[in-house]
Amino acid sequence: MTDLPLILLEEVSVNHEEYVVLEHISAQVNEGELVYLIGKTGSGKSSLLRTLYGDLRLASGKGNVCGYDLQALKPQTVHKLRRKLGMVFQDFGLLLDRSVDANLDFALQATGWKDNKAKRLRIEEVLTAVGLPHKGYKMPFELSGGEQQRVAIARALLNDPPLLLADEPTGNLDPETTEEILDLIHTLPNQGKTLVMATHDWASMDKRPGRVWKCEHGHMIDTPRPISVR
Ligand SMILES: Nc1ncnc2c1ncn2[C@@H]1O[C@H](COP(=O)(O)OP(=O)(O)OP(=O)(O)O)[C@@H](O)[C@H]1O
Ligand SMILES: [Mg+2]
Repeated sequence: MTDLPLILLEEVSVNHEEYVVLEHISAQVNEGELVYLIGKTGSGKSSLLRTLYGDLRLASGKGNVCGYDLQALKPQTVHKLRRKLGMVFQDFGLLLDRSVDANLDFALQATGWKDNKAKRLRIEEVLTAVGLPHKGYKMPFELSGGEQQRVAIARALLNDPPLLLADEPTGNLDPETTEEILDLIHTLPNQGKTLVMATHDWASMDKRPGRVWKCEHGHMIDTPRPISVR
């Protein structure tokens, strides 16, 4: 193991081809930290997350995520980084043509799990962890939005990743369900998981303080544990 923080960025820029979204980003995130990624629409939150999970190429600067050098990532090796990451998105991203169990099985299969009994056990574990122990047989359309997001969180947890990246995970949910999902998500740093979450939910940040990364005017401003970010 290395002594590197889970995320280490030095003078990183976030680009879409030649278009620079954010530049001169230097920051680090240690194990168990909670980071809120905030900023107006179009300020670069999703693009920064995409850079962290190797979906956007690092154009300049140095970046290391879960021990993987972002500059050295290649299309053939990016799956190694992805195995260390759980990702959760606003639109849940479940495969609609198959059951919850089959969705989770598909994700396990894609990350190299072969043994059917081990897969079965792991699926039960993660569904229990998100409060859906008996819903594995359901199709996504038979679940509420909040339940679908719980399944997506279960999927992100399958490989017990140290780092979770969430892009507006409650953006499609009503206020009450948002609270339930945030309560679930916020148990994760207590379990040693590190969480970076893009959000527009100010109330949640007031209730559960964390480090704040604010994207603004092409830069990211890093504020550790503010009282209020408004
Ligand atoms: N695939 C893409 N190709 C080119 N430019 C893009 C692409 N995706 C986003 N952009 C541009 O990058 C900038 C940042 O977009 P991004 O989606 O990262 O913002 P965001 O902060 O996540 O916004 P939102 O709060 O609406 O989700 C915007 O100017 C956007 O138009
Ligand atoms: Mg976005």
